[in-house]
Order: sequence, then structure tokens, then C-alpha cells
Amino acid sequence: MPPENGVLLDLNDCSIQFGGLKAVDGFDLRMSKGELVGLIGPNGAGKTTVFNLITGVYQPTRGEMLLKGRRLNGLKTHRITALGIARTFQNIRLFSSLSVRDNVRSALHIHCSLGIWDVVWRGKRFAEREGWVQGRAGELLEIFGLAGVANEPATSLPYGMQRRLEIARALGTEPSLLLLDEPAAGMNPHEKRELMQLIEWVRERFGLTILLIEHDMSVVMGICRRILVLDYGVTIAEGSPEEIRRHPKVIEAYLGEAAS
Ligand SMILES: Nc1ncnc2c1ncn2[C@@H]1O[C@H](COP(=O)(O)OP(=O)(O)O)[C@@H](O)[C@H]1O
Ligand SMILES: [Mg+2]
Repeated sequence: MPPENGVLLDLNDCSIQFGGLKAVDGFDLRMSKGELVGLIGPNGAGKTTVFNLITGVYQPTRGEMLLKGRRLNGLKTHRITALGIARTFQNIRLFSSLSVRDNVRSALHIHCSLGIWDVVWRGKRFAEREGWVQGRAGELLEIFGLAGVANEPATSLPYGMQRRLEIARALGTEPSLLLLDEPAAGMNPHEKRELMQLIEWVRERFGLTILLIEHDMSVVMGICRRILVLDYGVTIAEGSPEEIRRHPKVIEAYLGEAAS
């Protein structure tokens, strides 16, 4: 079936079970191009598992996943990356032995279809591609405020910068859909606000569609016009920040967490 105009991601009735546990149960999400949607919920609600389904880390036991009308079910992670989906991880995963710049360059190289002879001869084609990679890496480092530490080992950076580097690297694969898994985790309120503004800015700059997981409700309220709330694998609410804030089921889910 051809994709409906403007729909980028379409998840229909997706479920996955780990043993007896329904980690995600009947999840539906349709995202338009350019949308920024928040996915929130208490710890263990199934948020990261949704990302693991979209990116092919796990296969759904039920349901269908489409990107621009193309089925994602059954595809390996690297194929899904090549189709235009990039993600960051809740627990930062950088190449610790590489510099900040090389972490970003590693992502850009998926676009360079160089043959072995291009690399051996280091001819014109090689030089052109290298030039493009350098330029693009420099631009991403600049945007994320990392140009001054480009030659430092990635893991020597303060935590907040490592989180920004993860996003810069994810953008290196030139995704149309960016999945951010608690990108503000561990940051102070000021850093969180700055990061949210940066996310909003890169969305416009790169024409991205973004699904943003966040544990803290107040963080997503500022930038997402649409928010989904997961609890025990089930979507218990969906709507604008105002609707979510007032929703009795959401209040109950978060109060339950605070009390436990
Ligand atoms: N690979 C796995 N094997 C078994 N259980 C898992 C696995 N991945 C996630 N879970 C369980 O699924 C539930 C949802 O986890 P997760 O998606 O990480 O939650 P969230 O990101 O919302 O905190 C949790 O109960 C978690 O323990
Ligand atoms: Mg998680």
C-alpha cells in the first residue's frame, strides 16, 4: 500500500512479550513528517522497548511497523539505519577509544560507498568523500558545541557533553527519524532546558521527525505538542501537554511511582 501523504512512521498494534511479561502491548503510533512526539511513562513502562522494536533489536510478536510505507518487520538494525532511522541510548554508548570527531565520522562513513581501490589509491573520489566527511563532521560538532573538544577522547568529556555527542553522532547517518532515549538523563534543570531547545532547533535545521523518550514529564511538556504515556506496556493517554497533565490515569501512574 502506498504511504499516506505526510506519514513517516506508522506502528500498528505492536506487541512484545518477554516470558510472561507483556513489555509492550498493542502499541499504535502514527507520526507525520516533522513532528516531535514525546513518549513518557514510569520506569519499566516499555519506552525503551518501543525503540528496540522500531530499530530491529527485537521483533514484535504482533503488529506491523512501517517507515514511509515500507515494512520494517524482520529487518536487521543496520538496514533500518540505512533506511533513515537513528537513535541514541539511555545508557550512553560512545566509542570510548575514539576522539569526539571520530565518533561523529564513524557515523558519516555509512554514506561513503567507496570501493577498496578508492581507498588504496586514495584518488580523487577518496579525497572528495573525505572532504565531505570532514566538513559534515565539523558542522555537527559546531552545532552541538563540541568543536573545541573535537580531538579529545570521547569518554573524557563531562556527562552532558557526551549526551550531546551521542545526538551529533546519530545525526551523522542523516536520518529522517531520530529516536532519543532520555537524552537529558543526569542533567541539571538548566542543562535540560538547553538541550530541549537544541533538539527543537536541530529538528527544524535538518527537517527531522523526532520521537523523544523522557522520564520527567515537565521536560517534554515545553517542546512536544503531542505526548503518549505508557504504563505497564499500555498507552494510557495521548494528547497535548495540557490534556496529559490533567489526565487522571497519568496522575495515578506517576503518583504510584512516587509512592513506591
Ligand atoms: N531483553 C529483555 N528481557 C526481559 N525483559 C525485558 C527485556 N527488555 C526489557 N524488559 C522488561 O520490559 C519492561 C519494559 O522495559 P523498558 O522498555 O526498558 O522500560 P522503560 O524504558 O520504560 O523504563 C521492563 O519490565 C523490563 O524489565
Ligand atoms: Mg528506558
